Amino acid sequence: MIDNFNWWRDGIIYQIYPRSFSDSNGDGLGDLPGVTARLDYLAELGIDAIWLSPFYPSPDADFGYDISDYTGVDPRYGSLSDFDHLVAEAHRRNIRVVLDMVLNHTSDQHPWFLESRSSRDNPRRDWYIWRDPSAGGRLPTNWESSFGGSAWELDPKTSQYYLHSFLKQQPDVNWRNPEVRQAQLDVFRFWLERGVDGFRLDVFNAYFKDARFRNNPPRFGLRGFDRQEHIYDMDQPEMVGLLQELRVLLDSYPERYSVGETYVPTSEKTVGYVGSDRLHAAFSFDFFASDLLYPWNPGWLLERIERRDRLFDTIGVLPTTVLSNHDKPRTASRYSKNENDQQTLIAMTLLLTLRGTPFMYYGEEIGMREISLSRSEIMDPPGKKYWPIFKGRDGCRSPMQWNETPFAGFSTAKPWLKVHPNYNHRNVAAQQPDPDSVLNFTRRLIVLRRAYTALRQGSFKSLFRTDTGVLAYERKLVDSSGQAQRIQIYLNFTGSTRRVSFADDAGPESVDVLLDNAGRKQFCPTGHQFILDPYEILLLEVKTAAL
Ligand code: NOJ
Repeated sequence: MIDNFNWWRDGIIYQIYPRSFSDSNGDGLGDLPGVTARLDYLAELGIDAIWLSPFYPSPDADFGYDISDYTGVDPRYGSLSDFDHLVAEAHRRNIRVVLDMVLNHTSDQHPWFLESRSSRDNPRRDWYIWRDPSAGGRLPTNWESSFGGSAWELDPKTSQYYLHSFLKQQPDVNWRNPEVRQAQLDVFRFWLERGVDGFRLDVFNAYFKDARFRNNPPRFGLRGFDRQEHIYDMDQPEMVGLLQELRVLLDSYPERYSVGETYVPTSEKTVGYVGSDRLHAAFSFDFFASDLLYPWNPGWLLERIERRDRLFDTIGVLPTTVLSNHDKPRTASRYSKNENDQQTLIAMTLLLTLRGTPFMYYGEEIGMREISLSRSEIMDPPGKKYWPIFKGRDGCRSPMQWNETPFAGFSTAKPWLKVHPNYNHRNVAAQQPDPDSVLNFTRRLIVLRRAYTALRQGSFKSLFRTDTGVLAYERKLVDSSGQAQRIQIYLNFTGSTRRVSFADDAGPESVDVLLDNAGRKQFCPTGHQFILDPYEILLLEVKTAAL
């Protein structure tokens, strides 16, 4: 089978939250040399790229997503030469490096904003979005911050409001200003010249706001932000032109990549931003029903999978598959009970065998769980604001669990955020020698994904409509000589056995078991039926003669 492996389409991108991955200097905070020290582990895991959440200088109002210098490294994470070393060492292992670009807003401590807010006639005034109060001293628009409250903050010194789509310490820059546009594109150039392979664009589709500053219309929702149709504070038509310009810049270097974080995402919206003259990829987050809802239901998932495939097919691009990231509760905690990993393994199989580029979140490969925090321990600003309805995002950001030594081998000092108490048994060192661990199961899936092009580039077909608690699908690729590669995946989402039909004429002699978590070595259906064990995961290769 011809294999035209492309790192950013076919590879696995592993997200690292640098604060919590590995601390090399014993200050309780992860850092860049810490990441470098773990590259052998990542190479052995079999991932193709790392995406680093922000490590730039930041006052940390939003834990690095409020940047005060786009081209520096915060001294707590190391130096630019540590960064260069990390890139060189990653490349030596054939691991690409993707940076997080947070360009919708800066920190309020960024020199650009300090200048901008200093006076109405400062040359950088127009680098941010300043407005006079509306008639009667009212807010300029009804736009809401997604972290709560109005998106406008009155600056007493100059008696104007500035816009912040997130915290008031994160003022939105004015992308309509050509100097800002130039300065931001220069940030990409700076990192491209340092050998960076790609960029994840934080809330990119919010860069432009309505030029006439109209109010968003109302809709039904829980929080103020959800009670509006976001038609004027994001997704403005100017966005596509900017992405085209960015793509020309990226394409002037070999094999560079961009993936956008679609803000208030839908697959429909996302596909409009992806293609050969715009972003390479964008997150559509199809498997997050909402911040609070993550159904464990094959029928619901199938509907989402098929809908996203249909939409992405219209642009001929693969979707991205994301089950976890630094903003969402960890996959294993959403679906599994306590320390039981049965559902965790199913989720991992979905991540690595669905049609789409997998994004794996650090610790997902060992089934890390959410930490639980008391109200006084919460650090994340939206968690502080909305507790107990929304407890914030600290739960998924706890230190990586490397081994059973104090602080899980993450650091020699007390970490910035507490370690999950299960670290003494759930850690990399404990899982490495255990053939049944989540880690080794993940590795086996990654090896299969590498070996079978169909798992990366093949089509997706559901094998039967289901109300039985089983999700079954085939990934298939036919090459130009008519040779077909077919992998069938059967996932029993339930804790009881399930009778399943094998809708194929291939006899057992032409079916190989590639992976099974229930000890099945051979595939022997009775008639056209077979029984799946509770939570069984079965991957078959079905061999057929050339078409
Ligand atoms: C999206 C990021 O994923 C999130 O962590 C951050 O708080 C907001 N953007 C603001 O930058």
